[in-house]
Amino acid sequence: MAIQFTLNGKAQSVDVDPQMPLLWVLRDTLNLTGTKFGCGMALCGACTVDIDGEATRSCITPVSEVAGKKVTTIEGLSADVSHPVQKAWIELDVPQCGYCQSGQIMSAAALLAKNPRPTDAEVDDAMSGNICRCGTYQRIREAIHRAAQMHAAPPGQKELPEKKAKKPGETAAMTLDEPAAVGAAAGGAE
Ligand code: FES
Ligand code: FES
Repeated sequence: MAIQFTLNGKAQSVDVDPQMPLLWVLRDTLNLTGTKFGCGMALCGACTVDIDGEATRSCITPVSEVAGKKVTTIEGLSADVSHPVQKAWIELDVPQCGYCQSGQIMSAAALLAKNPRPTDAEVDDAMSGNICRCGTYQRIREAIHRAAQMHAAPPGQKELPEKKAKKPGETAAMTLDEPAAVGAAAGGAE
């Protein structure tokens, strides 16, 4: 029997074994290869997707469990790499080999959706299940704080290269924002 759910904002129906891990369905049935296989045992976080607002390991999630739910993968986080987490990742050049980064980004996005200004301890706690063999943890933490700043900035101020002083002689207000990032999107397909 077909299993129906919402995938990246669109209705999706798959006719597969209900016990098949969601990760296989995403990668092999639906050809969404941005979500990675690392351990297959919920130990590394490479396969993280968002299910109804929760960062979830798709490698141990039977596809039957997502029936009627909303699933977001790295491909659906934004249409144009405009999600603050993606922008911060690019700006701070977070990825090294990149393999873990889809999962890192999905966990970070789920964290910020619930907690827009997390502390270092909250970041570390939320990201503790996402392993990076390249050791990019420091940049990941910085990028999450950067994304939080972007998210909090008033519309129109996010990408300003600098804040100008309002009057001659007045010190420019300190801004949390830096110039917009350039570069490729983190978390691409393979
Ligand atoms: S592949 Fe799912 S947690 Fe490692
Ligand atoms: S960037 Fe290489 S595993 Fe994380």
